[in-house]
Order: sequence, then C-alpha cells, then structure tokens
Amino acid sequence: MTKRKLPANASVATVSDGQKLVAPAASRNADALCDLLARFAPVSGRALELASGTGQHVVAFANRLPNLNWQPSEIDTERRASINAYAEDVQNIAPAIKLNAIQSGWHSHHDTQDLIVLINLLHLISWPEVEVLVAESALALNPGGRLVLYGPFMRAGELTSTGDQNFYTALNQQDPEIGYKDDADILDLLHRGQLSLVEGVEMPANNLAFIAEKPVT
Ligand SMILES: C[S@@+](CC[C@H](N)C(=O)[O-])C[C@H]1O[C@@H](n2cnc3c(N)ncnc32)[C@H](O)[C@@H]1O
Repeated sequence: MTKRKLPANASVATVSDGQKLVAPAASRNADALCDLLARFAPVSGRALELASGTGQHVVAFANRLPNLNWQPSEIDTERRASINAYAEDVQNIAPAIKLNAIQSGWHSHHDTQDLIVLINLLHLISWPEVEVLVAESALALNPGGRLVLYGPFMRAGELTSTGDQNFYTALNQQDPEIGYKDDADILDLLHRGQLSLVEGVEMPANNLAFIAEKPVT
C-alpha cells in the first residue's frame, strides 16, 4: 500500500513516555467514546479495534468494558509498539496485530467478532477503500455483532462547520482521493453489507458515530 500524504494535523501523535505515543485527539475524545461503547457494545465477547493508533483508546475501552476481550490492530509498527506499551498490564487486551484494514480478505483471519470499532480513519482513505473496510468488517462480525464507525462526516453533502470546511480542504489539497464521506453514503454502504443501523449518534466536536448490527438469521 502506498502511504498517503496527509496534512500535518490529520494523524498527530507525539512521543510521551518510552514507546508510548500521545495523540491529542485521542486524549480529547476517549471519554465520549467510552460512553458511546458503554451504550452500544455487547457486554462480553471479542472486540477488534481497527487502526488503533497510539493505544490510548483501547486501554480506556478495555477498562470501561472489562468483559470484552480486546484485539487492537494497526498498520504502523511504531504505533503497534505504543499500543503494547499502554496495554502491558491490562488483562483483556491482546498484543497488537498488523492489520491493513483496507486490504481485501482480512476478515478470513479475524472473524467471529462481536464488536468492531474504527475511529477516525474513514476521512483519510478513498471511497473504494472505505467500501473494502466496511465489507470486510461486515464479514468478520458474528451474527448479532456490532460495527462502530466514528469520525467527521458530511451531512447530506454539506460540511457543517468552519473547522470541518478547513480540515476537508486541507485533506483534499494533499490528496484529492481522500476527505470526508457523506452520511447517506455510509448508510447505503452499511445496508449493502447487510448491516442494519442501530443508531447514528451526534458526538462532540461535530463528529458522528454509526452503530450497525449484523442480523441474527
Ligand atoms: C487519525 S489516526 C486514528 C488513530 C486512532 N484510531 C485514534 O482515533 O486515535 C489514523 C490511524 O490509522 C492508521 N492507518 C492508516 N491506514 C491504515 C490501514 N490501511 N489499516 C490500518 N490502520 C491504518 C494510522 O497508522 C493511524 O494510526
């Protein structure tokens, strides 16, 4: 995979302590995301986080939802080391695995998940890559399992704040293939993956979360 060129503020993480990295965005949104998962995640089972980043989130999630067994994943080696440094003493987190979330076929190695969580990646990849990621996630879920997608999105084709307009422009200038996806397109894609929408949740800082479920047939 070619590494995409991103604006400086799109995926910020700085060294904190040893191998631990800190992403300011993850520090800001961790509590709201924990509250979201406490409402919508299954109480127990297998949880896979895609594009885990620094590992700040998975540690917060694992502490808040102690009966879920968490599998963090990342494409980036330095970030996997950071995740493992954060997760060192947390019982319900497995060592981070290398998983390219936009590569077709990953579901066959990571299936039977009860929960899949993805935070802040969809705006950094192209639409065909989003299609692969959602299709693979749908296939990786158990019946009754849930997919949580969080990030900045357009609403009915509109960028709804000045901050979003600026960020979208910066993303698009670096790489015209990436940028915010539209909420209606995400709903359509979930539907195509045979996932039913449980709820679309307005989150702080004008972000959105989509909670979708794989039906029990
Ligand atoms: C904006 S950061 C978000 C990280 C984390 N989810 C968070 O919210 O703090 C995007 C992350 O996606 C990872 N990433 C980029 N492309 C990826 C891919 N194809 N598969 C898995 N992870 C990817 C990057 O290494 C980076 O850690």
